[in-house]
Amino acid sequence: MCGIVGYTGREEAVPVLLQGLYKLEYRGYDSAGVAVVQSGGLKVVKTKGRIKNLDEKIQQEGGMESVCGIGHTRWATHGAPSDVNAHPHISRNGRIALVHNGIIENYLELREMLTQEGFEMQSQTDTETVAHLFERNFKGDMMQALTATVKDVRGSYALGIVSADEPGVLYCTKRDNPLIIGVGEGENMIASDIPAIIQKTKRYIVLNDDEIARVTPESVELYNALGQKIAPEIQTVNWDISSAEKGGYEHFMIKEIMEQPKAVRDTVSPRLENDLPRLEDSSLTESLFQNLRAIHIVACGSALHAGLVGREVIERFARVPVFASVASEFRYRNPVIGEGDLCIVISQSGETADTLAAMREAKNRGARTIAIVNVVSSSAAREADSVLYTWAGPEIAVATTKAYSAQLAALYLIAVKAGLARGTLAEKEAREYCRQVNQLPELIQQALRARPQIQYLASLYSNRQSVFFIGRGVDYAAAQEASLKLKEISYIHSEAYAAGELKHGTISLIEDGALVVALATDPALYEKTLSNIKSVKARGASVILVTERQMEADPEICDFVVQVPACDPALSASLSIVPMQLFSYYMGVYRGCDIDKPRNLAKSVTVE
Ligand code: F6R
Repeated sequence: MCGIVGYTGREEAVPVLLQGLYKLEYRGYDSAGVAVVQSGGLKVVKTKGRIKNLDEKIQQEGGMESVCGIGHTRWATHGAPSDVNAHPHISRNGRIALVHNGIIENYLELREMLTQEGFEMQSQTDTETVAHLFERNFKGDMMQALTATVKDVRGSYALGIVSADEPGVLYCTKRDNPLIIGVGEGENMIASDIPAIIQKTKRYIVLNDDEIARVTPESVELYNALGQKIAPEIQTVNWDISSAEKGGYEHFMIKEIMEQPKAVRDTVSPRLENDLPRLEDSSLTESLFQNLRAIHIVACGSALHAGLVGREVIERFARVPVFASVASEFRYRNPVIGEGDLCIVISQSGETADTLAAMREAKNRGARTIAIVNVVSSSAAREADSVLYTWAGPEIAVATTKAYSAQLAALYLIAVKAGLARGTLAEKEAREYCRQVNQLPELIQQALRARPQIQYLASLYSNRQSVFFIGRGVDYAAAQEASLKLKEISYIHSEAYAAGELKHGTISLIEDGALVVALATDPALYEKTLSNIKSVKARGASVILVTERQMEADPEICDFVVQVPACDPALSASLSIVPMQLFSYYMGVYRGCDIDKPRNLAKSVTVE
């Protein structure tokens, strides 16, 4: 969480910093600030609220003139969102300004030591201790001070720093949090993510843990943890700035929902050859799946929900036990995993702290790791033994939609590959399934045609206090994602239940006016789910039935039918989730919620 940006060049820095911060607002949006080197000193403006509040405050304070500066958008961890807790933080002598993304775990110890030495803390943040520590360690050389400072801190960080004594120079380093350097012509940038630099350049360097960079308008000097100079590897962004713009849509979320056919197509088509998965480019060879003891899928939030679908499909095709675990629980429960096991981590950002920690745990215990990741060169992508990229393109809305769909597609390919490798799936069956996977973009396009109907349903139900989602098998997995989407976007309380489990307690909550959304897309389970639906209908619930069946609403069963295209039941989550994403979106719109930046959330969760 938190977004960092820095600029050094020939242009006015503040407009570039603000534009960068707007692009990083998805990472946190409770307070923001910038610092520039100006007239031999530092000028800092920071405020509680969003980037537009910062923009206004800068205007009110008469602007800031400089060609070099740093900026920050915050997701509070230590200390409430406030002007004083906003970054940048300044050293006691006012010569150093610093922005930080991450958590300094030993900040209380450092704070005590610094206070005893006469440093006065202005804020409640962990970051301010680093600014003072930097001054304490400074012996006339910024590189030396930064090296000493990171040795003193424990935790995770990406740091951007400017000094009043070195105008035009940015310093940065990182551990367990992303940081890139945008390489331009006569200007360079640092940032937490590509959208912040793409206004200026498509060329970038990914900073590795413990590397330190000294960045001027003309040069990028990179040093490893031992202080040795290393050659930077410059990469090029393979998408355009328009991919990170709303493109005429009112919100990024609806744009990204509508982009799902492309996200799935781009993920699947380059990996199918003669209707069979070709994953060797990701070093997913057949031998990887043979002689497996078990597969562990580990992820958080929606990525975990994709994993729950993956579990159903992989077990069906590859006949190997698959466990899907919440990443934040996995690492602390002494998991039974080791050599002979495969750990699949799923992450849009590739920077989720819990997921990364779980992957490291699995690796340390001898398991082989595969990362299904959307962000190229992210930490998960770099640390896993094999990477399968989802080519969903940049996802800006905080709530994931197209990345989730692309994750499902990647998991289907893995399931078929594993089934073939283990001899549990016949080639003919595999080809037929892959043909359907290949048709998914077209089927998702058809599912998107439900948009007007779903908007209408949201207009009817947006005042509900509570919504239950039910389903069996893959439908239950999709129901969990539908429920998460609804609560995060519309702030309506919602739960997902295995349809057969309702009668074991939760049915006591069903009364007149409760809204139940039933997902029933698997013909083999339809009758069973139907009896669960009837039992809630009989108790006064309003029911929306999502099914592939062609049927009219029947007062004994449901109030509305949302029909999704028919497909192999092992693919159905890709289609049933589409109306559910639209439902959350329109429920949020009718309730006046902040769709792309729901309260308390951030896109990239880099704290545990
Ligand atoms: C929900 C959502 C989150 C993420 C979760 C994991 O819409 O986006 O639940 O899925 O925070 O994030 P990644 O996929 O970046 O690891």
